[in-house]
Amino acid sequence: MTNLAENLRDLQQRFTVAAEAATDERALESLRVAYLGRNGEVTKLRRAIGELPAHERPQAGKAVNDVVAVMEERLRRRLENFDSRKVASELAASIDVTFPAIPAALGSLHPVRRIIDESCAYFRRHGFAVVVGAEAESDYYNFDALNIPSDHPSRESFDSFRLSDGMLLRPHTSAMQIRTMQRHRPPVAIVAPGKCYRRDAVDARHLFQFHQVEGLLVAEGIHFGHLKGMLTRLCRQLFGPDQNVRFRPSYFPFTEPSAEVDTTCPKCRGARGPCSMCGGSGWIELGGAGMVHPCVLREVGYEPDRYSGWAFGFGVERLGLARYEVDDIRRFVASDRDFLTQLA
Ligand code: DAH
Repeated sequence: MTNLAENLRDLQQRFTVAAEAATDERALESLRVAYLGRNGEVTKLRRAIGELPAHERPQAGKAVNDVVAVMEERLRRRLENFDSRKVASELAASIDVTFPAIPAALGSLHPVRRIIDESCAYFRRHGFAVVVGAEAESDYYNFDALNIPSDHPSRESFDSFRLSDGMLLRPHTSAMQIRTMQRHRPPVAIVAPGKCYRRDAVDARHLFQFHQVEGLLVAEGIHFGHLKGMLTRLCRQLFGPDQNVRFRPSYFPFTEPSAEVDTTCPKCRGARGPCSMCGGSGWIELGGAGMVHPCVLREVGYEPDRYSGWAFGFGVERLGLARYEVDDIRRFVASDRDFLTQLA
């Protein structure tokens, strides 16, 4: 028995050294055959158990089994080791570290945001302040203070998204005129960009949620010429140096006189031939403008005999259609990366 135990220990030691030295699966397999195979060293020892006295046999059998278990476990672990090393080396071989990296996709400003920023920057250069207000407004700021009484027909298209507390998602940014004038004595000069909401059915030219840029200048001696000058230069800033502006007589309750503002169609450059952008008129409509109505000035405590002012409100998406020569306003809200990167 002592002899067997010594032999086993000796075998196990040699086996361990050889297993650790093995460099591939083949070496491990021949090791397994040499020790645990049919004619392997351990198998030979197991056969020798039969020659031992009967009372020693169970213990000897157990000793051999224990050694076999340890050897098998070591073989298994070494094999596993080769496997994971193989995976790692195959992986390493498949990665070409010299290959140019895929550049991270950079985002860019949305075209609507860009037009708002450029318009505000233009007015800021001329001493205007940028103000923003709440998107939910009361009837007083949306309508009454702007000389739109409750029975006025223009309320119908404006009076769309009513909240449960009676507030209204603002149909235009003109409410900011009132809020500004209530807070400050003249002179005031502001631009107010922001979201607006209306009951418009969505089509190639309309969205129910869109953006406006509102402008207001009130001081002594302000006249329509100032308005024309500022808006003409704004259009040249946004569209290019040859841009012209046309004022068509119109009506808004909060301005007198009032005008619709058009600018040269950037596609046909006012050629007046067939044009998919302007329908051949040569002009693109941008929004409304006019001289602030005396009723509005009076409402905020300004003296109409002393102060005068102009105001305008442009649709930002409308500006975007013209500036980027886009055929459908819905493209601005479709989150289509191909479209947006073209305008970047
Ligand atoms: N608020 C008007 C609208 O949304 C646009 C407008 C017209 C704004 C004339 C003005 C203005 O400030 O003077 O249709």
